[in-house]
Amino acid sequence: MHPSAAAAPGPGPGPDRDHDHDQDPGVDRDVEARIRALLDRMTPAEKVGQLNQLSGADGMIPDALARQVREGRVGSILNEVDPRTLNELQRLAVDESRLGIPLLAGRDVIHGFRTILPIPLGLAATWDPELVRAGARMAAVEAAACGIRWTFAPMVDIGRDPRWGRVAECLGEDPFLSGVLAAAMVRGFQGDDLADPTSLAACVKHFAGYGASEAGRDYNTTNIPEGELRSVHLPPFRAALEAGAATVMTSFSDLNGIPATANRFLLTQVLREEWGFDGFVVSDWDSIPQLTVHGLTEDARAAALAAAEAGVDMDMVGHAYAGHLEALVASGAFPEARLDAMVANVLRVKLRLGLFEAPCTATATAPEPAAPPAAHLALARESALRSVVLLRNEGGLLPLEAAALGRVAVIGPLADEPREQLGTWVFDGDPSLSVTPLAALREALPGARVRHVRALDTSRSEDRSGFAEAVEAAADADVVLVFLGEEAVLSGEAHCRADITLPGAQEALVDAVRATGTPVVLVILAGRPLALASVVDKVDALLYAWHPGTMAGPALADLLLGKAAPSGRLPVTFPRVTGQIPIYHAHRNTGRPPTPETFVHLRDLPRGASQLSTGATSYHLDTHYTPLFPFGFGLGYTTFAYDALRVEPVTMPPDGVVQVAVEVENTGSRRGTELVQLYVRDPVASVTRPVRELKSFRHVELAPGERRTVTFELRGADLAFPGRDMTWVTEPGRMQVWVGGDAHATLGAEFRIMEPQPDS
Ligand code: NOJ
Repeated sequence: MHPSAAAAPGPGPGPDRDHDHDQDPGVDRDVEARIRALLDRMTPAEKVGQLNQLSGADGMIPDALARQVREGRVGSILNEVDPRTLNELQRLAVDESRLGIPLLAGRDVIHGFRTILPIPLGLAATWDPELVRAGARMAAVEAAACGIRWTFAPMVDIGRDPRWGRVAECLGEDPFLSGVLAAAMVRGFQGDDLADPTSLAACVKHFAGYGASEAGRDYNTTNIPEGELRSVHLPPFRAALEAGAATVMTSFSDLNGIPATANRFLLTQVLREEWGFDGFVVSDWDSIPQLTVHGLTEDARAAALAAAEAGVDMDMVGHAYAGHLEALVASGAFPEARLDAMVANVLRVKLRLGLFEAPCTATATAPEPAAPPAAHLALARESALRSVVLLRNEGGLLPLEAAALGRVAVIGPLADEPREQLGTWVFDGDPSLSVTPLAALREALPGARVRHVRALDTSRSEDRSGFAEAVEAAADADVVLVFLGEEAVLSGEAHCRADITLPGAQEALVDAVRATGTPVVLVILAGRPLALASVVDKVDALLYAWHPGTMAGPALADLLLGKAAPSGRLPVTFPRVTGQIPIYHAHRNTGRPPTPETFVHLRDLPRGASQLSTGATSYHLDTHYTPLFPFGFGLGYTTFAYDALRVEPVTMPPDGVVQVAVEVENTGSRRGTELVQLYVRDPVASVTRPVRELKSFRHVELAPGERRTVTFELRGADLAFPGRDMTWVTEPGRMQVWVGGDAHATLGAEFRIMEPQPDS
C-alpha cells in the first residue's frame, strides 16, 4: 500500500462536512491598510508596547500601569474584570496615548463566566457541538459585558493521562472529537462577527503537545515524534483555526528538546507557512523568560530573541519583550521588519474585534452586575444534564421512582458544596448561583424525608468519625445517594495526582454504607476519570458527573428521578488502575497484542511459575488489559441494538467517498438517545495506524421499538494520515469500519481504497 498513494489534506473540522464552517476572513484590504498606516507612525517602543501583555491589579490602576498605557507600552491586559477599571484603562489608551490604540482585555473564560457550565471534559461528554457552541456564546455574552474581548480557550491538548490535572480543561483523548468541539467553542465565543460587542476572540491552546507531559505532571517535558504530533496533537488546533480562532497560545512545555515557546517548527513552519494563520500568537504566562529556566537561553534577552525568532507575537507578563526587544532591533539582532509583522498580527486582531470603533463596554455604568438571565441557567442545566455519564445500573435501579421514595439518605462531602461543583477555572463564577444536588433533591422530593450526612469533611479527609451517622442514615433509607469524588482543587493547572483512586477515606465510606444492604447510587463529581476498579462493583448504580457547574443539582435530580435519561458518553478511556495509564482507544496494535487466551492474571500463576508461563503478550500481570470503561461508553435508561452494517460502494479511489449505513433499534421500554459512533482501522499501512480511530458520530433519539437507518459518509480525506515524509496521504488498501455505542464496537465491515487512476 504504500507508495502510489494519493496526497490528501489534513483532517477537516467536524462531523458534518455538508456545512462549511470556515470563517476565513481572507485578506481584508482595509484592515491591512490601517495596520500599515499605524505602523508607519509607530516608534519602536510603541511597536514593542503592542506585544506586551500585563496583568491587571484587581480593580486598581497603579500609577506605573497608567503611565505605561499612556506611553503606548501596553498592548493587552489580562485578569482585570471590573468593567469600570477596564473602561478607564481603555480611556487612557485611546484618549491619552499618542496613537490611541485600544487595549485588548483577556481572561480565562473556560467553561462559563458567572454562570458556570460543566468543566470542558464534561462538556466533551455531551458530544454535542451545538450545545458546546451555545455554552461558549453564553459565556462570551457574560464576559463581554465586563469589557473582556479575548478568552484563553478552547484548550485542545489531547488528554490521555488523567493524572494530569488539566484533563479537566481538555476535550478528551480523541483528536477528532476534540477538533469538532473546539471548532464549536470557537464559533460560540467569536459569534458570527468578531466585531460584535458580545464576541470574544478565541485563543486555542497550548500549542502544542502539552497533553503529553511526562508522568501526567504539569509543565513536564514532552517527547512526541513528528508523525504522532501531526496525527494526534495538531488536528484539533487545525480544526479550531479553520473555525476562525483569532489567536493561539504556546505551551509551557519542552517539545523534543525545544520548548514550545521557542519552537520555530511549530510557530512558524506549521502555523504560518503550512496553515496560513494570520492572527497572533501569545506566550503562556511568563513562558518567554522560562526559556532560560528550561536551559535553552542564557538570559531574558536571549529568551526574548528566541521567542520572537520562533514566532511568538505577544509576551504574557514575561516582561522580556518590553525589556529587550527594542534593543534587539536597534542592535540589528532582530530585524525591524519582523517586529512589524508581529505588531501587524496583534493589530489585525484588534481591528477585527472592532476595538478601535468601540473600545469600551456600555455596562460599566450599571451599579451592580446583572443576574444571569434565566436562559443562561437553563443552558447550564441542560449542559450539565447532557454531560453526565451513567456507567453502571444494576437491576435497573435508576431511575428512581419519586413516588415510591419515603426516606432518602444523601451522603458524602460533595452533595452540598456550591463551590466545589463548579470545578477548576472559575475565577468569575458565582457560587451563590449554584444549586447543589442536596437542595435540588429536597425540592424534587417534597414528600420524602431527605437526610443529609456529610460523613467526611472534604473529599480528602481520612477522619471516619462521621461514618456511624452515615451508616445509620443509610440503614434507615430506601436508597442511599452517595456524592463522592474530588473537590475542585484536586484538578486543573498544577493540580496533578500520582494516584487517581478516590482520595481520602471515601472508598471506606462506600464500604460502610453498602454493608447496610440499602441500594447505593454513587454519583462522582471529579475533574478527571478516576480509577474505580475497586469501587464499581460495590455500588448498584454509578453516575459520573465530572464537575457539572452551577446547575449540577437540578440536572442530577432530573436524571436520578427519571425526568430525563442520561445521554453523556465518555470522551476519555477509564483505566481500571492508575498504572494502566496511558490507556486510550486509538492505540497501535503492537506485535504482541493481548488476547483472552494469552492473558494470565498473577493470582492465577502457579507457585514456581516459569518465565514462559504467560502468553508473552502486551499486558500488566496485576490488572486486565482492557480499560474499566472504554472511550465512547455510556448507558441510558433503555437499550439499543445495531445490525445490518453495510458500506457502499465497497471500493473507492483515494479521493472518493463511501456511505456507511447501519440499523439502530431501541430495544428497551423507554425513549432514549443513542450516540452512534463510527470507527475505522487501516490494518496495513506504510506507518502503523491505531486499532480504532473515531471518524464520525451522531445522536439518534428513538422511541421504544423504533428502528432507524443511520448513514455516515466517509471520504478519502477522512482516512488520510501523515506518511513517512509527513505529508497527508490516503493509502490504497483494505479499510475496516465499525459502528456501535463505544470504541469496543464489534459490528464491522470492510471496504477497499483503490490505487489512484492516472487521470483521477
Ligand atoms: C497559564 C495557563 O497555562 C493558561 O492556560 C492560561 O490561559 C494562562 N495562565 C492565563 O491565565
